[in-house]
Amino acid sequence: SENISDLLDRLSKIVPDYPQPGISFKDLTPVFADPVGLRRMVDELIAPFEGQFDIVAGLEARGFVLAAAAAYASGKGMLTIRKAGKLPREVYRDEYTLEYGTSCLEVHKDEIAPGTRVLILDDVLATGGTVGSSVRLIEKTGATVAGIGVVLELDGLDGRGKLEGHRVHSLQVVHS
Ligand code: PRP
Ligand code: MG
Repeated sequence: SENISDLLDRLSKIVPDYPQPGISFKDLTPVFADPVGLRRMVDELIAPFEGQFDIVAGLEARGFVLAAAAAYASGKGMLTIRKAGKLPREVYRDEYTLEYGTSCLEVHKDEIAPGTRVLILDDVLATGGTVGSSVRLIEKTGATVAGIGVVLELDGLDGRGKLEGHRVHSLQVVHS
């Protein structure tokens, strides 16, 4: 069957000058919308970690789509890592630097038991700020990171460098 990189190239749409002039944005929404595309993405994200995780963490917002599907497909639950102020109970909070300014992610303190093996999924690894923050949050709860899966890894931003000591599986490396 078609390899995952060819599938992503066939179904995604390149948007020139988005979100800023000079940037080419690879839009995955048509892959999510395609029944084969969604299934293949999710299956390929979880395959290398089969039997090695207890729960799937999704990073708001685009990571939620992948993590919910992956959790369901693998018979696990899903942990929501949310942007600041969205979770109603006691949270751990982690602030991280963006290209311009800062952002903040939170996780419920009591959602996962210490020792739980967490698979982190998101759509894109760029600078690694978002995934890096999620790793810190999961470790604050006493859980462990089983692995990190992303659909697209943008090269040249050293996102992987921020995640040293963790297994990072990307479906495609994209020149950024
Ligand atoms: C995007 C993307 C990743 C993150 C990658 O999320 O979905 O989560 O940026 O960038 P980084 O590696 O430099 O942190 P964003 O917060 O823009 O929006 P979203 O809520 O649509 O997921
Ligand atoms: Mg995101």
